Amino acid sequence: MLRRVTDTVAGRGHVVLVEGEPGIGKTALVRAACAAAAKQGCQVFLGAGTSSPKALPLVPLLDALDVSDASLDPDRAAVVRPAAR
Ligand SMILES: Nc1ncnc2c1ncn2[C@@H]1O[C@H](COP(=O)(O)OP(=O)(O)O)[C@@H](O)[C@H]1O
Ligand SMILES: [Mg+2]
Repeated sequence: MLRRVTDTVAGRGHVVLVEGEPGIGKTALVRAACAAAAKQGCQVFLGAGTSSPKALPLVPLLDALDVSDASLDPDRAAVVRPAAR
């Protein structure tokens, strides 16, 4: 995983699938990789999904990018505001 971070810093991005039983350490591994990426100068965005059937598919992405009406960044808050007619 840390090699993938180093690759990313060098401009070679990857998609990494982390799977395993609950409690095996997936979240800890991802958080460690995010910390390593941040330490190497990457801007890290982290969102988490849920297995709930009521979950909206794009919410983890919006969370990761801090796109919500509560965002302190007015541009990000504007994304979710209804467009003026
Ligand atoms: N490498 C590790 N060494 C020691 N404890 C760990 C390690 N990885 C995870 N843990 C601990 O094991 C527990 C479950 O880890 P977690 O990352 O939440 O698992 P998962 O996301 O796979 O369900 C947590 O309490 C975490 O702190
Ligand atoms: Mg987890």
